Amino acid sequence: MNVGNGKGSISWQELFCREQKASECEIIIFGASGDLAGRKLFPALYCLHECGLLHKNTRITGCGRHSFTLETFRDHISGTLFNAHPSTAQEQEFLQKISYTVLDYTKEEDFARLADELVTEDKKYKPFLFYLALPSPLYIPAVENLYKTGLLSEKYGKRRVIFEKPFGFDLQSAVSMNRSLKDLLTEEQIYRIDHYLGKETVQNIFLLRFANRIFEPLWNRDHIAAIQITAAETLGVEKRAGYFDQAGIVRDMFQNHLLEMLSLVTMESPEIFSADAVRDEKLKLIRAIRKIAPADAVRAQYEHYTEEEGVSPFSRTETFAALRLFIDNARWQTVPVYLRAGKCLGVKKTEIDIIFKEVDKSIFPGINKEDLQRNILHLSVQPREGIGLTLEAKMPGPKLCMGALTLSFDYASLPQSGTETLDAYARLLLDCQNGDQTLFIRSDIIEHSWQLYQGLLDHWAEDRKSIIPQYKQYSEGPQEAKDLLKRDNAVWIDSLYRK
Ligand code: BG6
Repeated sequence: MNVGNGKGSISWQELFCREQKASECEIIIFGASGDLAGRKLFPALYCLHECGLLHKNTRITGCGRHSFTLETFRDHISGTLFNAHPSTAQEQEFLQKISYTVLDYTKEEDFARLADELVTEDKKYKPFLFYLALPSPLYIPAVENLYKTGLLSEKYGKRRVIFEKPFGFDLQSAVSMNRSLKDLLTEEQIYRIDHYLGKETVQNIFLLRFANRIFEPLWNRDHIAAIQITAAETLGVEKRAGYFDQAGIVRDMFQNHLLEMLSLVTMESPEIFSADAVRDEKLKLIRAIRKIAPADAVRAQYEHYTEEEGVSPFSRTETFAALRLFIDNARWQTVPVYLRAGKCLGVKKTEIDIIFKEVDKSIFPGINKEDLQRNILHLSVQPREGIGLTLEAKMPGPKLCMGALTLSFDYASLPQSGTETLDAYARLLLDCQNGDQTLFIRSDIIEHSWQLYQGLLDHWAEDRKSIIPQYKQYSEGPQEAKDLLKRDNAVWIDSLYRK
């Protein structure tokens, strides 16, 4: 099939299988000396540069309170990215793109100085992309100052602002931030990031579900018994206690990453693969999730968490949670969805498991239908991105020797398509430069996702008495998470034991 593009026709493979290079941009990173910028943003931008996807005239301005000079900032980035000094021309070229501006996010005069640097004849017609890698209370002061100094006006070119998660601390703060932003930016200028949406397997959910015939007829309560989503980490709170001890795992992982994955797995088909059609369907799905009953939620803390640097010795913050949800719509009513995420567990693993119902009847003498392996579709998000389908099958040997087999593939074993797989942040930074909002969160979605968890968060905050279960570090989490499923005669599919 060929598709017209106004310049003659191109095949659909050419249209979809080639990364669209970013247009020429000015990228401005607020919080440039912070952890996120060093660990994720600069490496992602370098990855785009290395793959030839960053425009040669794109410039990156780091901003922050730290008083770096141009040289010391480049040295800092070089140390983070290349361990010391750049050793190739490509690395050298990337560093030359970077500059640094000292900026206090609450001072308008600092922004006026930034505007003088950016709104010049050679730069002002390029799109400007401001990345707020900042604590969320600084978002509004920073955007207000961008606005006051004219940096958000689209008189000359596109102006976009990327907001790191968490967007808000609760429903009220998210609604209030959205309201304030409405006066300063249009929704088309706002890119709320959730880096899980940039992960390969998460994007693949769209294709698996909507580009194949075989799954969709089975993708409902008639055939699916349960859905489980796990995001387990071996890391503890590390150096982020200041943020994490306030937030807890529900704000950190469930309100965003787990809910985004769940909505892609369970939403209805959008009419077309476009930013708003996809986000409309996600919104409908999130709105259909039933209020979470506290009895369907487990929270726990890893042992010695309160002794970690920066954590309050009296902290009741949850480092692990497991929830049971229901989606009140025709497709999913009665299908339990189990979510769990935690820090300091036995393995680092993110997986979505779709568990199918058992066969209606066993025709095999002496074997009950419950004894047959249920089909399970495993979508492995990390560490190895891939898909598996567990089936009951004949084992070699005696006539009716049965056992579970898994058909599987992982992305790492696929022959290279000629295009590098982009890391999640690189994918999202590229989409933002190209003005594609499909993988970013819209204001109504963020509000409804906070709304979903707010009742539970309030309930936990008010409950100062009940004991928070503890779990051993690097274990598979608390027994209570298993008990949550036991009530439904179910078990977690994926073990979190260190292999
Ligand atoms: C972040 C959370 O959004 O995601 C962190 O704030 C968490 O606490 C991280 O560690 C996990 O991301 P990934 O890509 O390593 O699974």
